[in-house]
Amino acid sequence: MTETTIAIEQGGGPMLGVAPPEDVLLDVRDLKTYFHVMDGTVRAVDGVSFSLKRGSSIGVVGESGSGKSVTALTMMRLLDIPPAEIVDGEIWFDGRELVAMSDEDIRHIRGKDMAMIFQEPLTALNPLFTVGDQISEQIQLHMKVKKREAWDRSIEMLKTVGIPNAETRVKQYPHEMSGGMRQRVMIAMAISCEPKLIIADEPTTALDVTIQAQIMELLKSIQQRTGASLMLITHDLGVIAEMVDDVIVMYAGQVVEQGHVDEVFLDPRAPYTEGLIRSIPSVVGRGRRLKAIRGTVPSPFNLPPACRFEPRCDYPWDLCRATEPELYQVGAPERGARCHLYGPAGRGHRSPVVGTASVEGETESTEAARPDAAQVFLKSEQALEDRRQ
Ligand SMILES: Nc1ncnc2c1ncn2[C@@H]1O[C@H](COP(=O)(O)OP(=O)(O)OP(=O)(O)O)[C@@H](O)[C@H]1O
Ligand code: SF4
Ligand SMILES: [Mg+2]
Repeated sequence: MTETTIAIEQGGGPMLGVAPPEDVLLDVRDLKTYFHVMDGTVRAVDGVSFSLKRGSSIGVVGESGSGKSVTALTMMRLLDIPPAEIVDGEIWFDGRELVAMSDEDIRHIRGKDMAMIFQEPLTALNPLFTVGDQISEQIQLHMKVKKREAWDRSIEMLKTVGIPNAETRVKQYPHEMSGGMRQRVMIAMAISCEPKLIIADEPTTALDVTIQAQIMELLKSIQQRTGASLMLITHDLGVIAEMVDDVIVMYAGQVVEQGHVDEVFLDPRAPYTEGLIRSIPSVVGRGRRLKAIRGTVPSPFNLPPACRFEPRCDYPWDLCRATEPELYQVGAPERGARCHLYGPAGRGHRSPVVGTASVEGETESTEAARPDAAQVFLKSEQALEDRRQ
């Protein structure tokens, strides 16, 4: 494939201040969210752009501290300002720009058209009220219905998310439920007002593996049934491979790779993504050592001056220490990698090992008849299981 060397960030991006086309539900443009703290400024989200079509899904992956949650919380306008500051950028959601929107207006969108499911429902649910009260309150607020109707809809929502004896459960307090049930309540609350976008931030981390799978299955079926878009944040690349259409890979507050999930996972371009994929068992192959990305995520107060991944990268050269790489188009127009290897100066330098993903027994080629990312990760789970035995 011939690589193009168009910087996505420079060439033909959306015109600032102009709403995206109707089929685009969410369009985040050059978003910058910083925290001003005692030790200095944390550039938690530093020029992040991505978009999501109506009814489709996007995954957000990246090591701890890469800015995944802060991106979502900025979208929901849930950050305390100060210490946070939305320094720059636009967030277009359903035809409206959210960064400049008043607090009053954002309240009509948050929980209604855009709903978020958090990692730990115990901190998100109020311990002093029954789950029914909490879901009903939200329904009454956004759907302008009477108390009785909101209560009945709460029961219906609990049934939708597979909670048995919903008529009884609705009167329980959060602490009377198991972690899995509480997470179902969070999902019930999130979908109660028929949102256009569901943001799920590590929705199953606190749960055991069987329940995790059930919750993910539930999310997927709800998304398919309601036609909502989904933004899924998780460390679990296997879940991303199974659940979403597109993926963005974040590192130190920036998007370092983006594209269709199969393309990104089976043919990673940014060295950082390549490192993430290499640490998955079936991708490296049985009997070979997993290769974790060396080094650690840089301190937000001491980011490398040019490419933020340079100290950990296998392919750096002078340019990487001198100039910050842009997000270059690699292949399809929406496919990008933030790496000088794909810029004008990248030719002649060693390319990352692309197309390394394989299902055992199949060839290493990423050409014809390659498996999809979900198959690869399914195999990787089996490989992990083998290792444990
Ligand atoms: N309230 C805050 N005050 C100061 N810094 C913050 C605050 N919240 C987040 N940060 C910093 O912003 C950066 C991005 O954090 P964020 O929570 O978005 O990471 P993440 O990608 O969601 O990580 P994880 O996978 O651990 O959830 C980190 O350096 C974090 O320390
Ligand atoms: S720009 Fe250079 S250091 Fe950064 S990821 Fe690419 S090759 Fe590695
Ligand atoms: Mg997070």
